[in-house]
Amino acid sequence: MIKENSNRRDFLLNTTKVIGAGLAIAAVPQLFTACESEELVTDMNTNVTTFYVLDLTPHPELLVPGSIKKVKIDGKNADNPIVITHHKDGSFSVVNSICPHMNCAVNLPTDTDSTLACQCHPNHYSTVDGKYVGGPFQGYNLKQYAVGKFDEAKKTLEIKI
Ligand code: FES
Repeated sequence: MIKENSNRRDFLLNTTKVIGAGLAIAAVPQLFTACESEELVTDMNTNVTTFYVLDLTPHPELLVPGSIKKVKIDGKNADNPIVITHHKDGSFSVVNSICPHMNCAVNLPTDTDSTLACQCHPNHYSTVDGKYVGGPFQGYNLKQYAVGKFDEAKKTLEIKI
């Protein structure tokens, strides 16, 4: 009798574990899709372009023209933040936040018409294309990433990164 109860208890315990593990495995992909952006491959007229679709919901300030922010996307840009600028004319620009001279971060301007300033030396870079605009170390530019579609309704921005 004791052994029968023990077997029944073991059976119930094992069944619960299996069901629990199954539910956990089934839920994992949904957790990722709920909080991660997805890759979009566009194949139109022989041009294959891969964009990363960035969800701007966690960055509501970037929905407003005249805003600028550093955003880190796991696994992209060598895990360094990118600088996303939503210009006053409604266009977007994306550049690296790391100065190529000696790998220092750049500071964000308070006005998107101004420049990105290196934190180590007085070099300045354009918010539009990351190009050098002044400072002692010429020949350095911030890497620029192409921008695709901004979907205002979905609050997403395509970035070729
Ligand atoms: S590290 Fe940026 S200019 Fe030197």
